[in-house]
Amino acid sequence: MVKIKVLANGPYVVEGEGTLVQIKEGKEEIINQKAVALCRCGASENKPFCDGKHKQIRFQAPEAEFQIR
Ligand code: FES
Repeated sequence: MVKIKVLANGPYVVEGEGTLVQIKEGKEEIINQKAVALCRCGASENKPFCDGKHKQIRFQAPEAEFQIR
């Protein structure tokens, strides 16, 4: 199962079973983490990842959760 947690006032957290692989410019890179936080505020200096800037800009958006079963 893959879960996408949309954190209140924060990033998308993607987590699930298996190996997390980032495909960037046609190249695959294994990310040795169980979950990854992706920016949804647009302010991260390390896109597509969240770097915590959403707190500085006081990003506001509601939470939600999705599952792929
Ligand atoms: S959501 Fe965290 S920096 Fe954008």
